[in-house]
Amino acid sequence: MGGNRYIGLCLVNELARNGHEVTVMNSHDVPLPTGVRRLHGDRQQPGVLRAVLEPHRDEFDAVFDNTAYEVKDLEPMVEMFAGRLQHFVFTSSSAVYRRSFVQPVRETFRTHDPADPDPRKSYGVNKVQCEQYLRWVRAENGLPATILRVSHTLGPRSPVVTRDPIFFRRLELGRPILVPGDGFAFVHLIHVNDVARLMVALLGNPVVVGETYTVAGTEVTSILGAVEMMARAVGVRPEIVHVPMDRARRCQPPLIHWGEAVTGGVVLGVDKALRDIDWVPEFGLESGYQDSYDWFAAGGRDLYQYDFAGDDDVLAEMG
Ligand SMILES: NC(=O)c1ccc[n+]([C@@H]2O[C@H](COP(=O)([O-])OP(=O)(O)OC[C@H]3O[C@@H](n4cnc5c(N)ncnc54)[C@H](OP(=O)(O)O)[C@@H]3O)[C@@H](O)[C@H]2O)c1
Repeated sequence: MGGNRYIGLCLVNELARNGHEVTVMNSHDVPLPTGVRRLHGDRQQPGVLRAVLEPHRDEFDAVFDNTAYEVKDLEPMVEMFAGRLQHFVFTSSSAVYRRSFVQPVRETFRTHDPADPDPRKSYGVNKVQCEQYLRWVRAENGLPATILRVSHTLGPRSPVVTRDPIFFRRLELGRPILVPGDGFAFVHLIHVNDVARLMVALLGNPVVVGETYTVAGTEVTSILGAVEMMARAVGVRPEIVHVPMDRARRCQPPLIHWGEAVTGGVVLGVDKALRDIDWVPEFGLESGYQDSYDWFAAGGRDLYQYDFAGDDDVLAEMG
């Protein structure tokens, strides 16, 4: 489900490269590897998911659901596929975790209260509800589900300009990079191809069925470190402007994509994934940013619109 940009597209490429027979269902069209079948449908439109997928429901060994954000997205999938699959993989997020004094954050750590009404947390809270629903379904009917709590990603084709692309553009233009406080907060990233490779490595592995994994890289950096590495990939020295934390916290949209920049660093434990899955990340942070910039420089740059007005406001205020 999905499979037409970012993590989903990497997954499709990786599955095809490994010789799997792949079908995608999505509503946006993109060029796909030869032999990949595309079923067109917008799952958010009432009735569409069933109308498109039900005739094919006995054709799949595994389903990767990359475009489920709420329980209502998963319910028809479970109804259609329960008892018919060897594997159902749900892409959750590390946004399910509550903040913790103890690091690294592991799979056993506390997740958000599924009834938390705070709209700022809704993405993570909805993923918690999805996870709970899948665990309940597994207990009820044995759905062979694996839950992946994916960390922040880097790499080509970010759907939002605020990850790597706007940093690369600022650096190319010689614009300053505004960093909240010292920029020492940890941020734990993973390259999108490494997420996809982990997903493919789940197939045929009985150990992972019924399990939940945090999916992150094996290297960790700080906000400042990420900026320095992006600058190195671009081939420039960054001009960093440190913005007082109280001012940075008032910025809307935020100065930096990753919330850690103003709320505090997070390190995730990936030992469980490394132990159970035949996978190690291929990208380190430096090679990951280089790969991301190579794609950006080769044409990715023109796919985004860049707005530096927020930066300019803060710079003007700081004199
Ligand atoms: N990226 C991250 O940092 C991150 C971190 C943790 C977890 N996750 C999870 O990973 C899953 C995939 O995330 P992602 O960031 O890779 O998602 P994404 O790029 O937003 O892609 C997901 C889907 O968005 C739809 N879409 C909407 N507008 C589109 C457009 N203009 N062009 C192409 N597709 C468009 C597509 O599905 P349709 O064509 O069907 O509409 C696409 O398959 C999600 O469940 C997310 O919660 C992501």
